[in-house]
Amino acid sequence: MICGLDFGTSNSTVGVFKDGRAQMVPLEYDPRTGQQETTLPSALFFDFETNDIHFGRRAIAHYTQGEFGRLMRSMKSILGTRQMDEGTQIKTRVYSFNDIIGFFVQSLKERAEAFAGKPLTHVVLGRPVHFSDNHPELDQAAEARMADIAHKVGFQDVSFQYEPIAAAYDYEQQVDGEELALIIDVGGGTSDFTLIRLAKSRSQLADRSSDILANHGVHIGGTDFDRNISLATVMPLLGMNVCYKDKPTLSMPRHYFVDLATWHRIHWLYEPKVLRDIADLRLQMREREPIDRLMTVLKNKAGHRLAGEVERAKIDLSQVDETQLDLSFLLEAEDGGPQPTATQATMNEAIADDVNRVFRTVDETLVQSGLGKSDIQTIFTTGGSTALPTIRSMIQSRFPDAKWVSGDLYNSVGKGLALEARRRYL
Ligand SMILES: Nc1ncnc2c1ncn2[C@@H]1O[C@H](COP(=O)(O)OP(=O)(O)OP(=O)(O)O)[C@@H](O)[C@H]1O
Ligand SMILES: [Mg+2]
Repeated sequence: MICGLDFGTSNSTVGVFKDGRAQMVPLEYDPRTGQQETTLPSALFFDFETNDIHFGRRAIAHYTQGEFGRLMRSMKSILGTRQMDEGTQIKTRVYSFNDIIGFFVQSLKERAEAFAGKPLTHVVLGRPVHFSDNHPELDQAAEARMADIAHKVGFQDVSFQYEPIAAAYDYEQQVDGEELALIIDVGGGTSDFTLIRLAKSRSQLADRSSDILANHGVHIGGTDFDRNISLATVMPLLGMNVCYKDKPTLSMPRHYFVDLATWHRIHWLYEPKVLRDIADLRLQMREREPIDRLMTVLKNKAGHRLAGEVERAKIDLSQVDETQLDLSFLLEAEDGGPQPTATQATMNEAIADDVNRVFRTVDETLVQSGLGKSDIQTIFTTGGSTALPTIRSMIQSRFPDAKWVSGDLYNSVGKGLALEARRRYL
């Protein structure tokens, strides 16, 4: 049986062909909505007491409830970097990132097989346009790794499609006539763009390459926005700008704060040596209270909770002008702790450079195609970060005359990958 699998930085989905149509697999029950959801958050929790591995919302819940173990999120961000080859110690074992991503993909496959009622043998895997922006060899290595992982978990036939092209094929199902569409997918880790000619009558052609006028992307997404919001609003409270007593122009090494604000790097800070080094630094610093907070975060392994609170604030700021960041969980001794306010204005300023780079990449996509803005008839958006007001207003002001179709934020790529699997394998 065939499927499309979208292993996302933040959320993953699987689309299968069942009863003659592409269907998104209900992957996990969400107690908050009381429904089976078609997304599985790309998270694993290694429970150190039971040795079980939990996935998705359940993984996050085990961590949030304070169970003893290790949470991993945004593993896709490590693909395409030189840390791909580093292992990570979990209890007494060192796991490679292949192992960790493999556990997750295996779980996706099992969930999808339970839904399909048959083993899945053929898969089209989504991939960002660039796993690595500037290093083609790392990009190729990342794709080879994903192929290897998919074979290891039992897929016999593995092929790839670019995520925005998959999203285009999903949208194509609702196109009447022919359209020149720009697909904009701003997700958790990457922003990807495809300029493509779409028509239902072309959807079954074996070769679509002449329809694809440009395909481009950049390694910026929602997790980068989270990092920059965290660095602007939270990290100063944890000592980011505190100076040495005897060197008033030199402040705490910034890399600790960057790592703590970066989903896929948080676990590196839990190495015992890091806490020892920060304890040493604390003695040399002009203020100790903020560093005590930093040490509390690390001792309590609260890094993901902190990142989660920043992400929550970012999402709330799509709807409201300001929100309070609740950091009370960081503090054992203090009276409730600091409750910094994040506003839309501070958020927009914190993410402005990233957003500008995303839209420079949109411009480059147009240059690649040789077309102008006014040639584009339709904008199709997907990916969770296209809900951000600043992204939406940039799209609107760049393409005021195009028809704008807001697709499903989370399922479009997975559905398109299933359609592609049908085209390739059936
Ligand atoms: N309302 C919202 N406002 C802003 N950001 C949001 C909103 N809803 C979700 N997001 C962000 O969307 C991102 C997840 O989007 P999505 O699930 O499309 O990514 P992904 O497919 O896992 O990542 P990628 O395709 O880059 O590998 C997260 O960073 C999340 O914080
Ligand atoms: Mg995605």
